[in-house]
Amino acid sequence: MCGIVGYIGPSDALPILVDSLKRLEYRGYDSSGVALLNIDKGRIVLNVQKRPGQISVLESQMEHIDSSIGMAHTRWATHGIPNQINAHPHTDDKGTVAVIHNGIIDNHLKLKEELKSKGHVFLSQTDSEVIPHLIAEEYKGSNGDLFEAVRKTVHRLEGSYAIVVLHRDHPDQIVCAREKSPMVLGKGVKGSFIASDVTALLKYTNRFLYLEDGDMASLTRDGIHVERIAGGPAERPWKEVEWSLEDAEKGGFKHYMIKEIYEQPRSLHQTLSGWRSEEETLPKSLSKANTARIIACGTSYHAGMVGKYLFEKYTGMPVEASMASEYRFADHVREDPLMLFITQSGETLDTIMAAREARKRGSRTLSITNVLGSTITRETDLTLYLRSGPEIGVAASKTFTSQLMMMYLISSYVGFSTGYISRDEYRSVQGHLRTAIRAVEGVLKDVTKVMGQVEWFKGAENAFYLGRYINYPTALEGALKMKEISYIHCEGYPAGELKHGPLALLTDRTPVVALVTNDHTYDKILGNIGECSARGSPVLAIAPEGDREVSKYTDRVIYYPQVPPLFSPIPISVILQLLAYHAADQRGCAIDKPRNLAKSVTVE
Ligand code: F6R
Repeated sequence: MCGIVGYIGPSDALPILVDSLKRLEYRGYDSSGVALLNIDKGRIVLNVQKRPGQISVLESQMEHIDSSIGMAHTRWATHGIPNQINAHPHTDDKGTVAVIHNGIIDNHLKLKEELKSKGHVFLSQTDSEVIPHLIAEEYKGSNGDLFEAVRKTVHRLEGSYAIVVLHRDHPDQIVCAREKSPMVLGKGVKGSFIASDVTALLKYTNRFLYLEDGDMASLTRDGIHVERIAGGPAERPWKEVEWSLEDAEKGGFKHYMIKEIYEQPRSLHQTLSGWRSEEETLPKSLSKANTARIIACGTSYHAGMVGKYLFEKYTGMPVEASMASEYRFADHVREDPLMLFITQSGETLDTIMAAREARKRGSRTLSITNVLGSTITRETDLTLYLRSGPEIGVAASKTFTSQLMMMYLISSYVGFSTGYISRDEYRSVQGHLRTAIRAVEGVLKDVTKVMGQVEWFKGAENAFYLGRYINYPTALEGALKMKEISYIHCEGYPAGELKHGPLALLTDRTPVVALVTNDHTYDKILGNIGECSARGSPVLAIAPEGDREVSKYTDRVIYYPQVPPLFSPIPISVILQLLAYHAADQRGCAIDKPRNLAKSVTVE
């Protein structure tokens, strides 16, 4: 969950490192640091500077060092509180080796004891600090070969890591290695780069090499060399990424999240038009599927839950949606022939481990991600891409609606392949999705409707989001969005379950958001709104335009443009994102970087 960058080339390293690191701040923001190699009075010096707090603190307090080789880190604490000592880079006692690390070293306590017995002194409470000490030990026996010393070191590490290493005796070399934590290399006209993900480097290059688990690399002024940690060559292709720097910047918006909310008509169009080429990659064997399971975490799991309803509708087969962190530890009574893994980042460790497990058991695995070359693409048999463009805000918005769209597309495709629905029905799904995109445009054009309700919501401390059937997961997602960015405690609930317990919590200070759909659940949800109003709770209904009934139950209604009811999660989700965003903004919250959260959850 930390962010790492490295640079070697002809340019001044420090501004490149700080600029790139800031673009990774969504991965962690409790402390940061840089390490540079420079020449001072004829001697090579390893200069390390680190600070607690956001990168801006480091930037404003650091000393400028002239250097053309360095690395930087932004931390999301797992072992040891966020302070200056625990911040990366970490060094050995003599200050000859510096390391930045993303991941968790499971056997660090054992290694620490062993190193202490050899006289090593540790300063921090982190697991990462053992790495530079181990490298220093291994370096002694490696005849001055840093690459080999790192190789021997990582052989001893258990857990997950993406590490970058600098050594005082090697002013023209950076060594890095990865195992279960993301890392890409970039090649630009002015030097070579390392980063946790491509968005950090779009200003400098569009050419990337995605390291795989068990890979290590040496970056020198002459080029980049990649090998397997176990020994032997690693042929990894260089890929051109289509994302532009503009895609990864705020473009005049106050936060990335609101920019990304407004990008949804475009991102949804991209998902839909990309479907034509995705469809061609789908194996014919899908027509033999008779059950499926969808696995994901957080917001992606909510998209998977919507997918469950859609698969059941379009294919008639039983489908389960499971949280990756639970699925991994469950007893599996049967193997699911078709396993779908949804992860926008492609790096969520729980989802990756679940995919690995499913593949081992012989299931056909399919992933849906937004990030080209991300880890999940190697852990599954086939990958479908969302094409939403980079999403920087920690709270997912545009990738969620693209995931929803993908659920409509893939479920109807499987239904068509198995003969459960006709070609015309399959094609009509795509027509309805175009209607849903127009509905999203309508929502975004008339944002005053949402703004009018924000003030009312802003002061709440607890709230309920209610939905039924296909909009039950939409309610869960609306509640998650509100709680993670505004810190208002919200619970998403299937509306029918309210009277089985939670009704006890309703008071006149507990707002309820009720999602109304013009389908077989319509009368029931109106009844639920009545139940809440009768307990004095203020209810905000989100209902289709043209509805005449709902206003008889509550005078707070946000209307969304008409879409076929099954497609209503798409425009409703955008309304709920806007509600969460503006409520959080009025409460003065750090919307793009909510406390304790990080965008890619690369730890279990
Ligand atoms: C919430 C959010 C998270 C992610 C979850 C999975 O707004 O973004 O709940 O959905 O961490 O992330 P991915 O999709 O990258 O696997």
